[in-house]
Amino acid sequence: MTVAARRLKALGETTGFVPTMGYLHEGHLSLVRLSKKGASSTILSIFVNPTQFGPKEDLEKYPRDTEGDLEKCRSEDVDIVFMPEPGDMYPAGYGTYITVDGITSNLCGRSRPGHFKGVATVVAKLFNIAQPDKAYFGQKDFQQTVIIRRMVRDLNMAVEIVVGPTLREPDGLAMSSRNAYLKPDERRAAPALYQALESARLRCEEGGVSTDLLTAQILEKLRKEPLIEPEYVEVVSPENLEPLSHTGGGAVIAAAVRIGVTRLIDNIIIS
Ligand code: PAJ
Repeated sequence: MTVAARRLKALGETTGFVPTMGYLHEGHLSLVRLSKKGASSTILSIFVNPTQFGPKEDLEKYPRDTEGDLEKCRSEDVDIVFMPEPGDMYPAGYGTYITVDGITSNLCGRSRPGHFKGVATVVAKLFNIAQPDKAYFGQKDFQQTVIIRRMVRDLNMAVEIVVGPTLREPDGLAMSSRNAYLKPDERRAAPALYQALESARLRCEEGGVSTDLLTAQILEKLRKEPLIEPEYVEVVSPENLEPLSHTGGGAVIAAAVRIGVTRLIDNIIIS
């Protein structure tokens, strides 16, 4: 992969990189399309990264469809698909990890200890391997984008981070590989997460709102849906993920819920 990346650069190409865990959907492909516009060659990686899964999480069950993914990459004209094996990325004796302090401790970091250490580590490794000029991430994983930007700044990585908008199903549910876990009645309940966030956004557009009131209203909406078990609803600064008491100066409302065995996240930006 590194030899191929170097060859592309020697030919004067700029490279755009889309890291994924596969089971590709339109959200992933929207990032590929951004990369096709912003760079002359596009590299996509598929790697279900074991270090970002907790011991009780869904690593073994995570959905996989290599043939389908490759077909999608072919029709989107992805130049290189990089699919390492766990043993390539983490050989015996592997012992180097990246921890981004502070911004990894709230939101998903609270319920998934160690998750962002695994994410930062694998993304840094993938950047070193693929040596991209630009790398593309989705707003759907908002905390992940803030952490990657911080890591790139702190460690002087020569990669430009581009964040693309969240792609949604027609009923508002954010696209996610994990939506495949939802049973039919759970799938019907799932858009309530987006609806609760979107109605909060509309309320904020009318004027700044106190976050206590806002989170209470979102939780009340979510609790009306018996299949949904809220994990967190937080209103934070888009720059540093610090909790905010008021939405007047711009904010991100981020939430995680459980529906049956499936954990879903979503967020909305208040400008
Ligand atoms: P994965 O969940 O496969 O997502 C890969 C990229 O697609 C991430 O940047 C994610 O934010 C983006 N994405 C997912 N759903 C999206 C949607 N509905 N709209 C727009 N973009 C969406 O995120 C990961 O993998 C991993 O943590 C990874 C960064 C690859 C490191 O292992």
